[in-house]
Amino acid sequence: MNTSPDMRRTLLLVDDESTNLQVLRHTLQADYRLLFAKDGPTALTLVAQDRPDLILLDIMMPGMSGYEVCTALKRDDATRPIPIIFVTALNESADEQKGLELGAVDYIAKPFSPPIVQARVRTHLSLVQATEVRETRLQIIRCLGAAAEYRDNETGLHIVRMSHYAWRLAREIGYSDEAADELLHAAPMHDVGKIGIPDGVLLKPGKLDTAEWAIMRQHPIIGARIIGDHPSGLLRLAASIALHHHEKWDGSGYPHGLAGLAIPQPARIVALVDVFDALTSIRPYKPAWPVDEAMDYIRQQSGRHFEPALVEAFERCLPDILIFKERWADEPSELTEQVGT
Ligand code: C2E
Ligand code: SIN
Ligand code: SIN
Ligand code: FE
Ligand code: FE
Repeated sequence: MNTSPDMRRTLLLVDDESTNLQVLRHTLQADYRLLFAKDGPTALTLVAQDRPDLILLDIMMPGMSGYEVCTALKRDDATRPIPIIFVTALNESADEQKGLELGAVDYIAKPFSPPIVQARVRTHLSLVQATEVRETRLQIIRCLGAAAEYRDNETGLHIVRMSHYAWRLAREIGYSDEAADELLHAAPMHDVGKIGIPDGVLLKPGKLDTAEWAIMRQHPIIGARIIGDHPSGLLRLAASIALHHHEKWDGSGYPHGLAGLAIPQPARIVALVDVFDALTSIRPYKPAWPVDEAMDYIRQQSGRHFEPALVEAFERCLPDILIFKERWADEPSELTEQVGT
């Protein structure tokens, strides 16, 4: 007996006419697990019990219409993402329009041709899958960034704050929404190389000695290696940021001593917001600085550590930055006691 769970996608077929359901069953049963409903209320019950991956929905049904079923499903956060394909009788193009306005992804005209039904179902399931793959990728990236951050920062909120600061600063200097979002998702991995730094160094309460500092300065290279070589996209951006986030505008940073515009712009942005958040947060080796003192330091480092135009842009968006800082403030914790004052 095969005891493995059924991994096929589940479709819900809703039609008040048995013959239509039978045709759909013959068309789809080889590839999918099927649920059937002959009226709206039954369809809603089945969706609640056994969340289908896609719904084929008849419009004209006695009692509750397909429109009403669709409206109910789109109102609920849990069921809104399920793609709905309306199955409409011919010559109902006004109805088709209404169905799409209600949030359906497509419609199929009756009497339907089995290959078209199969193709439409396949298309819409693969669109859902593409969204899931993208979501999963972002979650994995967040997990990696958080894994590094948890080692020296109890809450992991540092990466949430600094990535939003980076997003805001990027918008201020003219990044498009898409480009700023890309930075928002890549920036959390900037310190992923700290995974490779021994606790004795990373969590040392005091100043690092020369040997320890040499180890610590490896974290950008370790991070870029962990993320790996990618021809394009989010991970390429993340690797560039991890590698270059400790370079300084005047060329005195590490690992390569790059200066000015030779430092990739995303890394220049992250360098500034990372230091701002490190200064205004508690660390195993230092207490949190007040915002005024952190800003004095950042101004003083304009043209040294940081690109002058970025320091100016950061000043302009400081009010928004401070809203993010409040929203993701660290809770007072044992770290506070450990460092003292
Ligand atoms: P981090 O704690 O995430 O700090 C990021 C950057 O913020 C630092 O990069 C530095 O540019 C700035 N920053 C943080 N705290 C201070 C501060 O008190 N004064 C000044 N002027 N700048 C500060 P940096 O220096 O390259 O350090 C990289 C990482 O090395 C730090 O990341 C931290 O994990 C570690 N680290 C640096 N200094 C010490 C230390 O004295 N003791 C220990 N245990 N770790 C240190
Ligand atoms: C990259 O090319 O991977 C990062 C983007 C940039 O450096 O401008
Ligand atoms: C990259 O952009 O692919 C990282 C290497 C670099 O920026 O020098
Ligand atoms: Fe770092
Ligand atoms: Fe950091």
